[in-house]
Amino acid sequence: MAANNARAVASALIPVANVHALAEAYNGVDGQVPERYLVAEAEKVIVGGGGSHSEIPVVDLRKLLDTRSSSSECAKLKSACHHWGFFQLINHGVPDDVIGNLMHDVAEFFDLPLEAKKEWAQRPDSVQGYGQAFVVSEDQKLDWADMPHLQLQPSESRDLRVWPTRPHSFRNSMEAYSSETARLAFRLLELMAKATGAELAPLRGLFEEGLEQGMRVNYYPPCRQAADRVLGLSPHTDASGLTLLLQMNNDVQGLQVKKDGRWFAVDAVDGAFIVNVGDVLEIMSNGEFRSVEHRAVIHPNKERISVAMFHCPSLNLKLCPLPEFVKKGEKVRYRSTSYEDFLKQYFAAKLDGRERLERLKLE
Ligand code: OGA
Ligand code: NI
Repeated sequence: MAANNARAVASALIPVANVHALAEAYNGVDGQVPERYLVAEAEKVIVGGGGSHSEIPVVDLRKLLDTRSSSSECAKLKSACHHWGFFQLINHGVPDDVIGNLMHDVAEFFDLPLEAKKEWAQRPDSVQGYGQAFVVSEDQKLDWADMPHLQLQPSESRDLRVWPTRPHSFRNSMEAYSSETARLAFRLLELMAKATGAELAPLRGLFEEGLEQGMRVNYYPPCRQAADRVLGLSPHTDASGLTLLLQMNNDVQGLQVKKDGRWFAVDAVDGAFIVNVGDVLEIMSNGEFRSVEHRAVIHPNKERISVAMFHCPSLNLKLCPLPEFVKKGEKVRYRSTSYEDFLKQYFAAKLDGRERLERLKLE
């Protein structure tokens, strides 16, 4: 049942301070950032130019769809989904005005005074709304960010009490963005199946039927005192099938992806979506596509905003490797589980890298 979704599962969430307000208070003075936001000295993060730079693969949707270039572009897509779990998508066809309107309204929302934004704050029974997710104990480390988390599809799962109405165009902008990104996600799922030689229809069909689409709008304030000791978003994998991320200010680096045990900073290509494979697709594809650990770091003087759209199948789905991805003679590599239980566990714990996914692996 739609009401019985990931959002309703998060009743154990502990409310935390607004980080935007904290940043305003601390960035102006020389006071120390509260201990709960600081990672251990040994885990200091490398911000901006210091990290290893990577070229996460760039995939061109126009080339994927053009018969003259589709086979070489498909090979690139397949390799990106396997080796990186991430790619940047250009020529994606989502109209500029749909993206522009959303970005404009998101920026305006964050510019509102805190008291105004609180009107759409998380309620005690759900993760939907303006606040923070994954806070389940009084002593865990906290992320340096705030976010409205909103469920967009199926439409009856929307909690309109926490959907911002300022600026006035916000809801319309989200609606348009929601349908464009869902359409793009379906198309990508089909092409990803094609790229591996699997049948096209089943993967797309599983998402199209009963799509769950959620949106997280991440606001990462700067942290002048301790950018190398705070994390905007702790290392995690996404519990989704496919995530489409847009970052608003491409001059501010923040997303980092783990590959071969090292963190790589992502330079966002202008106008591109950053696409990543989530846990659901790793399991369904029997490990062909990989759900890769990533995190967000903080800039000392500049804010950063990103919008993540999570595309997930119906909660009723039994999550297991699909037969068309288990190649002849290969073993099934993941235990099956109910997607709803999987999500319950995801939202009931602190983010913890690939932990949950690893537990489902069969050796
Ligand atoms: C997310 C995420 C990264 C970013 O929202 O799941 O990984 O750069 N965001 O904001
Ligand atoms: Ni993520």
